[in-house]
Amino acid sequence: MVNLGIVGSGQMGQGIAQVAVLAGHQVFLYDSFPQIAEKAKQKILEKLAKLQDQLKITSQQYDSASLSLHTQDKLTGLKSCNIVIEAIKEDYALKQQLFKELSTINNKGILATNTSSLSVGKISQAVQNPERFIGLHFMNPVPMMPLVEVISLENTNSDVLKQSMDFCQTINKTVVQCKDQPGFIVNRILLPMINQAICALEEGLATPEDIDTAMNLGANFPMGPLRLADFIGLDTCLAIIQTLKDNGENLTFSPSKLLVKMVNEGKFGKKSKQGFFTYE
Ligand SMILES: NC(=O)c1ccc[n+]([C@@H]2O[C@H](COP(=O)([O-])OP(=O)(O)OC[C@H]3O[C@@H](n4cnc5c(N)ncnc54)[C@H](O)[C@@H]3O)[C@@H](O)[C@H]2O)c1
Repeated sequence: MVNLGIVGSGQMGQGIAQVAVLAGHQVFLYDSFPQIAEKAKQKILEKLAKLQDQLKITSQQYDSASLSLHTQDKLTGLKSCNIVIEAIKEDYALKQQLFKELSTINNKGILATNTSSLSVGKISQAVQNPERFIGLHFMNPVPMMPLVEVISLENTNSDVLKQSMDFCQTINKTVVQCKDQPGFIVNRILLPMINQAICALEEGLATPEDIDTAMNLGANFPMGPLRLADFIGLDTCLAIIQTLKDNGENLTFSPSKLLVKMVNEGKFGKKSKQGFFTYE
C-alpha cells in the first residue's frame, strides 16, 4: 500500500486518485485552492457511488475507497507520502516552483510529474535529490485509459523506476518506457493530428460534426479529434502543440489560430463546458 500524494486536483489528479483508492492506496489530494481539492473529493465519491450503483464495485470497495481518500490544504500535508504525483497546469515555471518547494518538504518519497509534453529533465532541475524524480504520464480519462508512459532520466535511481512501475501495475496500468522527448510517444503522434483537424475546421473544410464523423468512420477512431481535443482541454492541447513546435526539428506546423483564439476566450473544452461542442 502506497501513501500517494497528488498535487493538482483537476481532471488528471481526480482520475489518478480514483484508480489509486480503488486499488487500496491511501490518497492525499492537494490543490492550490483548497476548495478545488474538496470539490474534487466530492466528485470522486460521486463517481465511486455510480460505480457501486452499476454493480461495478461492491459496497465494501466503495466504503474502503472513500475512507482512503483525503484532502490536504497545505503542501506540507504530503511530507510523508511514498509517491507524489504532480498534475498541475502545463507550465515550466509553475511545475519547477512546485517541485522546489515539495522536494524540501518531502525529502524521501518518489516525485513524479504527469506532464504531457514538457521536458522531465528540465522540471527535475528544481528537485532536491533528482535521482528520485520520474515522469509518469497518465492518459485521460485515467479510469478508462490503461496506459502510462514512464520517462526515467539518466540519473533516475533504478529502485525508483521499479517502484514506479510496480505502482502502475497495482492500478492495472500497462507501462511503456520512452525517452524524455517532447510529447513522449502518444502526444508526439496525436497532437499534430488534432492540430490538423482544427486547421481543417478553421479553413472551413467541414463542420466539427463531419470532421469527427469522418475520423470515426473513415479511420476507425473511437472518438473524433475535435471532441478528443475538448476532452483533453484546449489549453492543454495548445500548451503541448506549442512545446512540440518549440522543440521539434521536423514538426513544421504552428498551433491553429482558431485554437489560440478559443483558449484566449476561455473556451477550454469539456472542463469549461464550451469547446468545439457544448457540454452540460
Ligand atoms: N488533460 C489531459 O488529457 C492530460 C493527459 C495527461 C496529462 N495531462 C497533464 O496533467 C497536468 C494537469 O492537467 P489537467 O487536465 O488535470 O488540468 P486541470 O486544469 O484540469 O487541473 C489542474 C489543477 O492544478 C491546480 N493547480 C495549478 N497550479 C497549482 C499549483 N502550483 N499547486 C497546486 N495546484 C495547482 C489547478 O487549481 C487545477 O485544479 C498537465 O501537466 C497536463 O499537461 C493532461
